[in-house]
Amino acid sequence: MEPRPSVIQTRLKDVNRVIAVASGKGGVGKSMVASNLALSLAKQGKKVGLLDLDLYGPSSHLILGFNPDGFPDEEHGIIPQEIHDIKFMSLVYFSEDKPGAFRGDDVTNIILELLAITRWDDLDYLILDLPPGIGDETLDVISYIPQTEFLVVTTPSKVAFGAVEKLLKILIEGKLPLLGVIENMTRDSSEYISKKVSKLNVSYLGYLSYDAQVEDAIGDPLKLLETNLSKDILKVSKKL
Ligand SMILES: Nc1ncnc2c1ncn2[C@@H]1O[C@H](COP(=O)(O)OP(=O)(O)OP(=O)(O)O)[C@@H](O)[C@H]1O
Ligand SMILES: [Mg+2]
Repeated sequence: MEPRPSVIQTRLKDVNRVIAVASGKGGVGKSMVASNLALSLAKQGKKVGLLDLDLYGPSSHLILGFNPDGFPDEEHGIIPQEIHDIKFMSLVYFSEDKPGAFRGDDVTNIILELLAITRWDDLDYLILDLPPGIGDETLDVISYIPQTEFLVVTTPSKVAFGAVEKLLKILIEGKLPLLGVIENMTRDSSEYISKKVSKLNVSYLGYLSYDAQVEDAIGDPLKLLETNLSKDILKVSKKL
């Protein structure tokens, strides 16, 4: 019998909320939202953890400017290192940021292992940065952390929303906890996304404007906290 699933719930017993930042589409800003939301909540005094579950293309460490310096400490589990008061866990501690190629079973194994070994202790929020689509990572999160609440990111594009709508329908059909949709990288006001989201009876949590300052602030959390994106994320964080 696989013992890790039951260990996972013990590891998460003092974690108040698990929020997965997901999307049916790639490149819409999931990692940006996950990292900036973690920064914003930590700045508001919340106890926050961030787990990068994008095993093929981890990027949270790049956004937060985190260079793992060797393995994290171990004591009854792995203790995540802290960046700007965020407890951070990612495969990059172990892969040293080298590229990885994994098959489905490997993905599930890595996710089970990360969840079973990490000592989050008590947290107000554990944020998960998911890869795009409805693949193994998303399905494993649903199986092994059923309390996960989904925060779904789209852009204003009809193409992006076409894929996002499929994820939303799966979450709705599965009666899974769904916080709502964030529209990212808006450039002008359009009600296309908010109307589509409302039609599905899902909460539209607001929009994050396209912010040209962001690229320059990547890797520097203090700079990120000064961007307009961070101000927009603060507004969204109050609705969670
Ligand atoms: N509001 C924004 N304003 C400006 N640039 C943004 C904004 N949100 C995200 N970006 C940029 O868009 C790109 C994609 O963002 P990000 O990597 O967060 O997307 P993703 O959905 O996590 O992608 P993937 O599907 O590959 O995981 C990045 O270069 C990021 O800096
Ligand atoms: Mg990403």
